[in-house]
Amino acid sequence: MTNLTKQSGYSETMQCVEVIRKKDPNFIPKVGIILGSGLGPLADEIENKVAIPYNELPGVPSSTVPGHEGSLILGNLSGVPVVCMKGRIHLYEGVAAHKIKLLIRTIKQLGAHTLILTNAAGSLRKEVIAGEIALITDHINFQHTVPLIGPNDEEFGERFVAMDNAYDKSLRQKLKLVAEKHGVPLHEGVYIAVLGPNFESPAEIRAFKVLGADMVGMSTVPEVIVARHCGLKVVAISTITNLAAGMEDKSLSHDDTLLYAKIGAKKLHKLLKAFLEEYQDELSQ
Ligand code: HPA
Repeated sequence: MTNLTKQSGYSETMQCVEVIRKKDPNFIPKVGIILGSGLGPLADEIENKVAIPYNELPGVPSSTVPGHEGSLILGNLSGVPVVCMKGRIHLYEGVAAHKIKLLIRTIKQLGAHTLILTNAAGSLRKEVIAGEIALITDHINFQHTVPLIGPNDEEFGERFVAMDNAYDKSLRQKLKLVAEKHGVPLHEGVYIAVLGPNFESPAEIRAFKVLGADMVGMSTVPEVIVARHCGLKVVAISTITNLAAGMEDKSLSHDDTLLYAKIGAKKLHKLLKAFLEEYQDELSQ
């Protein structure tokens, strides 16, 4: 067994699962949720919650980004047993790509069948402005790495994983129905993932528009690839925190990201709760 497999494969995942099961022995989450910038308050609404800081989970790196506290939170949200990642790991923090596998596979191994991802993103479409939310229909991986490189962990999935329907069509349809019913405007589009931590140059944004991207961000895609590899259904939503570089007359900043993430998060919060409630029976199986 190579070092890479040892560090991020089956046994390390099972060690995390064991720590969690000891803290919350009989709880089986069915839906995993990754809470992006501004969505932390959703975790406050989880009932009967058990919170486990990332530093208690062997091998899980703690996030170094303000606004991304690191803990796994288990409990019931709108009647659905969930496990939330409050805070995520970004590749720009210098963490090896394979480290992304651990929490996603832990979520799967705990019993979840679905993963809902949220993030903050810049918009490449000028009509989709800061504070709006958008469903991800597909992605472009511009991070030039993939967490699955290295020996394949057969326990989780096959070597070559398909990326068509990565963002589950039927779940997207359900989210759109719920959004319409509850009067939450929901855009949709293709998300391009960059490595960061710098924001893009205006020339890069012009190039990404030609490639077919509608949103740009520094997360989500590695997690989605790992999730699909281990068979989790995926749905992902971006909170738009800014128009992308060069589209407005001001420089981008993380402060603005956090400010608008909070505004968008209110809509996303409402949408996710309504979605879980509406499909409670189906999602809890
Ligand atoms: N670019 C990359 N990541 C982001 C952006 C952006 O404009 N906004 C929020 N996250």
